[in-house]
Amino acid sequence: MQFKKSKVVIIGCGNVGSTTAYTIINQGLCEEIALIDINKEKAVGEALDMQHSIYFMNRNIKVYAADYDTCKDADIVIITASVPMDPHANNRLDMLAGSKKVMKSIVKSVMGSGFNGIMIVISNPVDVMTYYAWKLSGLPKNQVIGSGTTLDTARLAVEISRLFDLDSKSVSAFVMGEHGDSEIVSWHSATIGGKSLSDVMSDNAERAQHETFDALREKTIKAGWEIFHRKGSTTYGIAASVTAIVKSILFNENRILPVSILLEGEYGLHDVFLSVPTIINETGAKEIVEIKLNKEEHDALVASSKVVASYYDALKD
Ligand code: LAC
Repeated sequence: MQFKKSKVVIIGCGNVGSTTAYTIINQGLCEEIALIDINKEKAVGEALDMQHSIYFMNRNIKVYAADYDTCKDADIVIITASVPMDPHANNRLDMLAGSKKVMKSIVKSVMGSGFNGIMIVISNPVDVMTYYAWKLSGLPKNQVIGSGTTLDTARLAVEISRLFDLDSKSVSAFVMGEHGDSEIVSWHSATIGGKSLSDVMSDNAERAQHETFDALREKTIKAGWEIFHRKGSTTYGIAASVTAIVKSILFNENRILPVSILLEGEYGLHDVFLSVPTIINETGAKEIVEIKLNKEEHDALVASSKVVASYYDALKD
C-alpha cells in the first residue's frame, strides 16, 4: 500500500464526524486528522480518545483538536455539522433552515483560512448543502463534493446481495439523484458479476423472492430512517462511505462513486448538485460518468433534480 503525506480536517464531532475520523484512522489513510467542533471540549475529548487508539493501529496518525486556521494546508475538509434532528423526522429537506445557518458560518471560516483543497459535504439535506457550500466557497466545482448517494448505493447493494447470499461488492447498481425520497436507480445498467440484474432476478425467481425493483428502491430510501428512528442517528454506513471518497482522493484511486456534484449539461441537467457516478481522484471530482439511462430513468432523474433545485430559493438571504 502506498501512503501519501496528507491532512484531513473534520468539522463537527457528532456521531458522523467522530466515526468518520475513526474510520479514516482505522484505514490509515492520512498523516494528520484535525477535529473542529463548536464545542471545543468535545473536539479535544474525541481527539484524546482517538490518540490512544493509535497504539493499536497500523499507522501513526496525528489526531488533534484545532481551530479553523488548520484548514489552510488541509488536503480535505469534511463538513458534517448540522443542527440536532427532530427524532420524528423523515425527510432530510426539513433540515434546510438549520443547516443553512451552520453551513454559512463554517464555509466562511474554512475559506478564511486560505483553504484550497477538496471539500466534502455530508450535512443534510446534502445535495442542497453541497450546492450552497460550493456557492459560498468560490472553489472550482471539482473541489466540492457531496457524499450524496454513495451510501444509498451501498444500501441497495446490501439489499440485493442478501437475496442471493453474495458479497455486496459483487453488485453493481447505482443509486442516483437526490440523497432522499426522489432518488432513482439505474436498473437497466445494474449487474451482478457481469450479468444483468434483470436476468439474475428472472433466472433465480425463487431466491429473488419475487422482489420488485420498486420495493428494493423503497427499502433503500427507508434504510436510513430504519436506523435513525431506532438509534437516533446513522453512523457507520455514512462514515464508511465518506472514507471511501477520502481514500479515492488521497490515494488517487480514480474510483467511480456516485457523489453529489455540479451538473453542467451532463444528463441534460444544469446548475444543480445531484449524485451521478463520478471518477474521484486527487483532483477531487475528475470526471462525470454518463450512464445511458432509459427514458423512464432519465425522467425520474430530471424530476429528482427539480426537487433539489426547488430548495435553492430558500438559500437566498
Ligand atoms: C443517512 C444520512 C447520512 O442516510 O443521511 O444515513
